[in-house]
Amino acid sequence: MQARDNGNIRVLDLGKQEIDGMTQRTALVTGGTGGIGSAIVRHLAKQGHKVATNYRDEAKTAAWREAMAQEGIEVCTVRGDVSDPESCAAMVRAIEEKCGPVDILVNNAGITRDTTFHKMNYQQWTDVINTNLNSCFNVTRAVIEGMRARKWGRIVQISSINGQKGQYGQANYAAAKAGMHGFTISLAQENAKFGITVNTVSPGYVATDMVMAVPAEVRAKIEAQIPLGRLGRPEEIAHAVAFLTGEETGWMTGANLAINGGQYMGW
Ligand code: CAA
Repeated sequence: MQARDNGNIRVLDLGKQEIDGMTQRTALVTGGTGGIGSAIVRHLAKQGHKVATNYRDEAKTAAWREAMAQEGIEVCTVRGDVSDPESCAAMVRAIEEKCGPVDILVNNAGITRDTTFHKMNYQQWTDVINTNLNSCFNVTRAVIEGMRARKWGRIVQISSINGQKGQYGQANYAAAKAGMHGFTISLAQENAKFGITVNTVSPGYVATDMVMAVPAEVRAKIEAQIPLGRLGRPEEIAHAVAFLTGEETGWMTGANLAINGGQYMGW
């Protein structure tokens, strides 16, 4: 990532830099080319971090990287399938060689295969569990030992309102998303003494391609249940991730930040 021209740059331990008083770290955002992922990548990069993401589709990613470059954001993109442990280990090795040790991990990659449970096939179940939940094992396992050795880390799971409240047509997705927070609160306990915080963000319905794929009449009913009267914006989720991954947010771990326009207020 380019330091700002007028930045006051200091070199810190482990090859990190401090830019205008902000410590530059390497962040891995899985699924960074998607709707919420792009906003997270953009936000962390604008804060001065080096940001990496994985991809599966070369052509789509090249276009995305070019669009980011037009905004002045340079992203390290590495081929990697989050549902495959070996692919994740290789991906993290490649990122660490190019950009340095991963200090910030955002487990954001996710898919939907919506259908009512009595019609759901095993493939629809396992695709969602593998990509949304097993990915947390695959990617986090590849970075956690380094974070523990360096005694600093920030891990954020991007879960969902539907992991908290369930959703008609999403038994697979809600199970995976609820599982992500179980993962968060266990890792938070195990890694606190190593300076690693682990938190969850649970977005509600945000204006992304994933939500726009919900049939219009179903979406209209969901939007009517949002007290703040609109879908979320990807930047509103990215803002929370930047907060949780900040240097100053060192005493918050095991939390689940619900950002859903008031659609679900359980605690
Ligand atoms: N509560 C009660 N009944 C409901 C219902 C609900 N929330 N939603 C649908 N139904 C009923 C319908 O009224 C209909 O009833 P009748 O048969 O009596 O007319 C029946 O369920 C339709 O059931 P089907 O099994 O025939 O459903 P379908 O095949 O037409 O589609 C569906 C069902 C795929 C679940 C569709 O409703 C849908 O896409 N729902 C949206 C699911 C959703 O919210 N996905 C979120 C995607 S975005 C995301 O996941 C991001 C995030 O984190 C928020």
